[in-house]
Order: sequence, then C-alpha cells, then structure tokens
Amino acid sequence: MERIILDCDPGHDDAIAILLAAGNPEIELLGITTVAGNNTIENVTTNAQAVCQVAGIDVPIARGASEPLVTPQIVSHDIHGGTGMDGPVLPEITGELDPRHAVDFIIDTVMAEPAGTVTLVPVGPFTNIALAMRKEPRIIERVKGVVVMGGSYTRGNVTPSAEYNIYVDPEAAEAVFRGAWPVTMVGLDLTHQALATQELQDRVRAVGGEVAQFVLDIWGFIGKTYEDVFEFPAPPVHDACCVAYLIDPAVMKTEAAHVAVELHGQWTKGMTVVNFADRPGMHHSTGVAVDLQDHRAQVATELDWDRFADLVAGSIERIAAR
Ligand code: BDR
Ligand code: CA
Repeated sequence: MERIILDCDPGHDDAIAILLAAGNPEIELLGITTVAGNNTIENVTTNAQAVCQVAGIDVPIARGASEPLVTPQIVSHDIHGGTGMDGPVLPEITGELDPRHAVDFIIDTVMAEPAGTVTLVPVGPFTNIALAMRKEPRIIERVKGVVVMGGSYTRGNVTPSAEYNIYVDPEAAEAVFRGAWPVTMVGLDLTHQALATQELQDRVRAVGGEVAQFVLDIWGFIGKTYEDVFEFPAPPVHDACCVAYLIDPAVMKTEAAHVAVELHGQWTKGMTVVNFADRPGMHHSTGVAVDLQDHRAQVATELDWDRFADLVAGSIERIAAR
C-alpha cells in the first residue's frame, strides 16, 4: 500500500492520475494539492474538485501556489484549452476546499504520519514541493520518496530541450532534484510511451456510465490537441504514469542517474541534464559544481504499456462500479 499526496494542475492527464489513484486499492490518496501550471490556480483547483465530484472521490483538496518561484506563469492553453481541462462538461462544484494552503497541507500530513510512509507525487510545476521543503526541511528525511512527472533526457515539449513542468518553474525543480530524498523522475521519455490508444479508449467505452464518458471526453479533447500540435496518434497520459509506478513498479524500468536542471541556458533553460550512473567520468568534463557521482534519482526509461493500460482501465472499472 502506497500512501500519497498528489500535487497536480488538472490538466487532462492529471485527471486520469487522480482517477487511477482513487480507483486502485494499492494506493491511499491522503489528499490532492493544486498548483498553478496548465492554467490559473483557480481553474486547476476547480478542475480537481470537478474530477473528484464526478467520480465520488472524497479526499481533502488544498489549493496551492498561484505562480512559480521566479519566472512568470506560463499556462498551457494550446494543449489543455482555456479552462485547463476543456472537453468534458464540468458539474457545479458543491464541496469545500481544505482550509489550508497546499504547502501547509503537505507539511502537516508528512509530519503527522509515521516517518517513511508518505510519498509526494508532483505532476505539475514543483512550486508547492519546493516551498514545503524550505518551510519545513524535516519533510525531506521524513517522506518515503518523491515521484515526479517532469523532465526528459531526450527531448522537450515546450522547447527542444525542456519539458513543461520543469520549464514553468525550473528553480523549484532544481530544489527538488537537489533535495536529499529519493526522487524518481518520470519524464517524457517514458510518458510518450503511455498513449491512450484506441484500444484503451475502447476498453473504457465498454465500462459505460458517467465516469467512463468523462474519461473519453478528456481523451477526446487532448487527443485532438496532441494530434494538431505534436502529430501524436493518441494522447500521452503523462501524470498517471507516476501513480502506475507506485501501484506496480514493474510497469516501468528505471535507471540510476544524477539530474540537474539548467536554469540559465539561452536555448536550454528548464532542461533536465541527466547523468546516468553507467556513464562514469562524464562529470570530469562538465565543471558543474554539484556532485555528479551522487546518483540519487531513478529515471524512468521503458514502459510496459499492457500493464499500464490494465491499471488505468481497472481503476475506471472499479470507480464506475461503486
Ligand atoms: C506535463 O505538462 C502538463 O501539461 C501535463 O499535465 C503534464 O504534467 C507534460 O509535459
Ligand atoms: Ca500535470
């Protein structure tokens, strides 16, 4: 059983991450925290509430940072639409938010639960996580780990070298990767293998009902933008990959690496510079003043798509049957 706080910016794939977590018995979803990213903090928070309402998920939702640490916010209208989660018809929100700021929710929860039992899962810009580790540094040794969606070692999706969650708040990302806690980086190299193909969509269609239709509407919209903008055959379900890994680590292969974030490059700002453990000596030529021999992160490389699809479809089936 993995006990997680999902820190997100819904976001179409964030929504699937919420459903995957809430629908799988191996995950205890301690709470959802929101962060400005794909859209304004107001909209992504409403979207998180809407997902939970549609699916009958009763967990605390705490609103977080309204802008990145240093750089101005960059929303993702071109991919996620004007609301951050265009496509499905969203209900009127009836539930209340947790009264705490997301940063305080994260700190309170990690400090209140037994040491080594809570995993943080940031799948938006890492602003809340960086603020929490600075406000209460004891969370760094207290968490079980941090499983992030962000970065890449081969390509970007905002610029040729930078992935969105890192590009939007690179200073926060650098703080998280430098933290003395176990980080698993699930980047584009992995998530671009996690496509919601026609086969997966047909499985969800066969489930029927409101939640299944919600998921199909999500994939309908994001599938169109990924086709138009990136010429993808189907939409990647980036954020759900982190949750899938926590349910079943065999869903992907990972490799030890040191990850640093490029903060200043004219063409490379927001790039994750990944030094795999099996490439000793590369650090000698970089001159970078960090210990590149400290291979603290695990970086995801290869997805078992069949396992992933089973997990996603399984959660939607279980939620629909409730
Ligand atoms: C990431 O950026 C967002 O648009 C998605 O929700 C995902 O977290 C992919 O680069
Ligand atoms: Ca996201």
